Amino acid sequence: MAVSQKIRAFLSEASWIRRMFEEGEKLRAVHGPDRVYDFTLGNPEVEPPAAFKAALQRLAANPIPGMHRYMSNAGYEETRAAIAEVLAQDTGLPFRAKHVIMTVGAAGALNVVLKAILEPGDEVIVFTPYFVEYGFYVDNHGGVLKKVPTGQGFLPDAEALERAITPRTRAVLINSPNNPTGVVYGEGCLEGICRVIRQKEKELGRAIYLISDEPYAKLVYDGARVPCVFHFTRNSVVVTSHSKDLALPGERIGYIAVHPEMEEADLLIEGLIFCNRILGFVNAPALMQRLVAGLQRERVDVEGYREKRDLLYNHLVSLGFEVVKPQGAFYLFPKSPLPDDVEFVRLAQKYLILVVPGRGFGQPGHFRVSYCVRKEVIVNSLPAWTQLARELGMEKSPAAS
Ligand SMILES: Cc1ncc(COP(=O)(O)O)c(C=O)c1O
Repeated sequence: MAVSQKIRAFLSEASWIRRMFEEGEKLRAVHGPDRVYDFTLGNPEVEPPAAFKAALQRLAANPIPGMHRYMSNAGYEETRAAIAEVLAQDTGLPFRAKHVIMTVGAAGALNVVLKAILEPGDEVIVFTPYFVEYGFYVDNHGGVLKKVPTGQGFLPDAEALERAITPRTRAVLINSPNNPTGVVYGEGCLEGICRVIRQKEKELGRAIYLISDEPYAKLVYDGARVPCVFHFTRNSVVVTSHSKDLALPGERIGYIAVHPEMEEADLLIEGLIFCNRILGFVNAPALMQRLVAGLQRERVDVEGYREKRDLLYNHLVSLGFEVVKPQGAFYLFPKSPLPDDVEFVRLAQKYLILVVPGRGFGQPGHFRVSYCVRKEVIVNSLPAWTQLARELGMEKSPAAS
């Protein structure tokens, strides 16, 4: 067999988004690309901010000698210092360059953190629904993914977390704003999680890290704020990237920030830098490091995303779909009107609407709609959603009223 049994099993289990995308390709070939409403991918359609292009042009016009060479595995000191300065301003904590490690996106950052902290068999807790890659990343480093259901509004439930923590728990991995729900965890929610973590750390006599995956932190609406996890537990790291906030997912640029007051911060940082090297990342992309250093206060047009969210959210709710209103990221995670989410997704394809079944995120009975698409795609899809609701006999669909 060309691949291991494990990878073979992963291939069949992990392919929901890819499968939906491939089915979309077939539909596009038959109906034409403009008639298919593809809401499957989390690949931003917007362009990076103008400041990015300007910085890129400046760098190309004034190349720095040696700018394509290897560097420290942690990244350029200037970039790390620029990010640390912003973190210090925003958190009031004594961040310095050494607390920031540049990585190959948030995905690279997560792998580096997990590689550095996990013993074989250590458990990493996630809340369902969750970004499905977490399971593979945890497995990459010999860990075991432990799924804990969320409560009302897809918010983590502190009591469920308390029950799930065991002497093998090494980390709790959270993601806010969340993929796939778009939900933002407020201060009360974080306090609940961290109270349990701090209490269990005492009880079990070992550190339990809070890993906060925050690539969507700057994509928030309606005045929502993403609270800073560093204020809730010292054993915390933030992993993030500029894939979404600067719309640079193909450039693979992100970082890890380690709480400056963590007891063993220096040892963890040393381990993270070493893991960046031995995982084969070696260092984060050099040119991108130069560029993002000066763009820490920039972000893409968030108002445009809010408008798209409102268009789709309001229409789905008017048709009778049950949806938690997301305050961030660019996803909706409605309840499937059919008990079987895959059956629903297939039915939606009849109307050329492509979405991903909730089971692809560990939560069957829902579906994910990614609205990081052109506004016309959303506008043009609205009648198709209405027809779909009508076929399902949904209460509030115009046909039923
Ligand atoms: C929740 C979450 N974490 C991490 C990532 C990986 O992002 P990156 O492109 O920075 O590796 C994604 C990408 O979609 C994501 O949705």
